[in-house]
Amino acid sequence: MAVRKLRSLNNTMLARSLFRRTLLAPSNAAAFSASPMADVKKVGVIGLGLMGHGVAQTAMQAGFDVVGLETDPAFLQNGTNLIEGSLKKVHSRAVKKGKATQEEADAGFAADFGRFEGVTDVGALADCDLIIEAIVEDYGVKNPLYATLGELCKPSTVFATNTSSLSVTQMGDASGRPENMIGLHFFNPVQMMKLVEVVRTEHTSDAAFQLGHEYCKAIGKVSISCKDTPGFVVNRLLVPYIAQAQLMVERGDATAEDVDIAMRLGTGHPMGPIHLGDYVGHDTCKFILEGWVKNFPEEPNFVVPDILLKLNAAGRLGRKSGEGFYKWENTADTAPSGPGAPIE
Ligand code: 3HC
Repeated sequence: MAVRKLRSLNNTMLARSLFRRTLLAPSNAAAFSASPMADVKKVGVIGLGLMGHGVAQTAMQAGFDVVGLETDPAFLQNGTNLIEGSLKKVHSRAVKKGKATQEEADAGFAADFGRFEGVTDVGALADCDLIIEAIVEDYGVKNPLYATLGELCKPSTVFATNTSSLSVTQMGDASGRPENMIGLHFFNPVQMMKLVEVVRTEHTSDAAFQLGHEYCKAIGKVSISCKDTPGFVVNRLLVPYIAQAQLMVERGDATAEDVDIAMRLGTGHPMGPIHLGDYVGHDTCKFILEGWVKNFPEEPNFVVPDILLKLNAAGRLGRKSGEGFYKWENTADTAPSGPGAPIE
């Protein structure tokens, strides 16, 4: 079955990578001779929303036990439903494509979903080997959480934040274990997007950083390394690009539709930038850009278009609210259903 094949492919890739690492290791690389991933069995995922449920699902599909935390039972139920629904789709797709029988798909679903334990108490994360946090982008919420995790978790637990624009260093400091802190930045939709950015702070240990990369391989993703800078690699390029596209529409240089067609057909992007802004959510874009403008006023690429503020003020957040630049019939769709109303 596809998922099993993926797992064995991952194992082969991991073995090859460890082999290469051993052969090519510099003389002071004793710490790398045993993989820190070997001990990773249980993964904690904090926040089971848009990103977190995908992070949990990919871990379960790769064979990890997952403890998913949402402190509000209603959010926990919602996240559990998202994981269940998405896993069911994966397995029923395998039947449709003739890659599995119905019995195999049912058994695969039961095995994957059986690895999930949903909890509302942070104490349940104490013995996790790796914890990936995907909660609201607010230091006021994140830092106290990391302080709790630092007191609670076993000494070897590696903490990973999925933040898209905040400082990983700050969270590591809050945990009291900055050497165990990394960023693991996933992309939306997590189930489909191959990339994860592994972020290293000045304090991150070699072992924690290596674990981040090896975890990505184990779940079938491709990882890149980056420093703890605003937006890392992708968002530093992508978010200003989306903002520039919105400024074009705001100035009337081209319509939203034409900007999107231009970038799809002119550069081969799967979605144009106006479409992508709707897909990511204009609250997220505004949050990222406003944070950067405040913290890095000297950076000319960080600007907040008026049209983005207008969309937010009107509650037109894109796909998640049913309308942004475009209209969205269904929050699970990848393409909009038609043009949105004029933006006043
Ligand atoms: N979960 C699981 N599977 C999904 C999914 C989801 N959320 N969304 C789509 N899929 C699956 C579909 O079921 C379908 O599978 P099938 O071929 O087996 O039936 C397959 O993906 C293709 O879906 P669609 O036909 O609906 O759509 P596309 O072929 O256009 O692909 C896309 C959709 C992968 C989203 C593609 O349009 C794309 O790559 N878009 C760009 C996305 C992007 O740039 N993401 C990054 C955003 S920035 C970010 O996340 C950073 C953050 O910090 C802000």
